[in-house]
Amino acid sequence: MGRIEKEILLAEERKKTRVVITESILADPSFMRELLSLAPQWVVITDKAVEKTYGQQIEKAFLPYNISPLFLSIPPGESYKSRESKAFLEDQLIKSGKTKDTAILALGGGVISDLAGFVASTYCRGIPFVILPTTLLSMVDACLGGKTGVDACGIKNIIGSFYPPSLIGIDPLFLSTLPPKEFRSGLAEVIKAALIADPALFSYLLSSREKILARDPHSLQHIIDISLTIKQEIIEKDPKEQGLRRVLNLGHTIGHAIESIESFTLTHGEAVAIGIAMEGYISTKMGLLAEDELHQIVSLLKLYGFPLVPPSKIDLAALISIMKLDKKSVKEGPRFVLLEKIGKVFSFEGKYCTFVDREILREALNWIYA
Ligand SMILES: NC(=O)c1ccc[n+]([C@@H]2O[C@H](COP(=O)([O-])OP(=O)(O)OC[C@H]3O[C@@H](n4cnc5c(N)ncnc54)[C@H](O)[C@@H]3O)[C@@H](O)[C@H]2O)c1
Ligand SMILES: [Zn+2]
Repeated sequence: MGRIEKEILLAEERKKTRVVITESILADPSFMRELLSLAPQWVVITDKAVEKTYGQQIEKAFLPYNISPLFLSIPPGESYKSRESKAFLEDQLIKSGKTKDTAILALGGGVISDLAGFVASTYCRGIPFVILPTTLLSMVDACLGGKTGVDACGIKNIIGSFYPPSLIGIDPLFLSTLPPKEFRSGLAEVIKAALIADPALFSYLLSSREKILARDPHSLQHIIDISLTIKQEIIEKDPKEQGLRRVLNLGHTIGHAIESIESFTLTHGEAVAIGIAMEGYISTKMGLLAEDELHQIVSLLKLYGFPLVPPSKIDLAALISIMKLDKKSVKEGPRFVLLEKIGKVFSFEGKYCTFVDREILREALNWIYA
């Protein structure tokens, strides 16, 4: 009998995500119509703290359309971004008889959008999913890119899927209740975006500190819009993470390690800010970034109140061994994204990262405590 071979093309939809950024988004009829066109039944997945503050507002927004969404909430915190939470949410969806005609609205920070997106991606083999981010970190970073997932066995995002939301609705007014530490955490990603791609955003951050820290909605809308555009352009140019996308990792090789050494007492953004400063210093030491620009970067980080000194005395060997465990590290060791100037990452022939000498790392560590 002859051999039969076939090639079957499964519709690999390059799904579009629409993003709307506006004040009082839930009172915006055109946003609500777009949202409700996705499904007749709705489930809001959120955390208990966000539900307490914004649950009623969501209920009210659905009321004129005769829809009362089912609220499912988990306690706040990274430790609930877990397989157990996913199973809990799925059990609730099943028990309440939800099927294909249901959509999920993720209301919360990155923990919620990662978890709810993962649930949406596997429930009934995929149901529509919308994100209403309520933290700055999730507005400028976590909501975009389609990565969903949970942590397991102490490893972040080890299980997950790629499942972009259909719609992202960003309302800067949600940030009025965000604790300052969480707000600052998101600002580190905005500063990162400026450093890798946009000197004008860097200047704006320098000149608009008061307005931004006062959470002026227009200023917030501006920095969210620009940060998302930067991330979008990078993702679109490098969808398979072959090179350019690494620039998004500025400050993160060191930042992730510090986050873990400090047992997550620093927020992600606070650790990334230290990482940005140290990777900036390394860039200068390696002759890539002018010293004056390094000073400008450090001044901006300080202007936004980042504590650039880690709470404990970090040991070089510990730092290196943790960086080696990072998902993005390779056999030869951790790699670093380095700056050429404010608004530009050094390309290293399209790899956008490089290995760094142990001695330079030691100097960077000493410098941060000096
Ligand atoms: N998918 C991605 O591409 C991506 C990118 C970056 C980060 N992430 C993930 O995002 C997560 C971190 O997200 P996060 O920093 O938003 O943390 P989070 O979701 O844990 O929220 C932080 C805290 O803020 C509270 N909160 C949220 N909104 C609030 C509001 N408006 N007012 C008052 N309190 C509010 C929450 O209850 C929580 O306690 C991590 O798990 C990370 O892995 C994902
Ligand atoms: Zn980050």
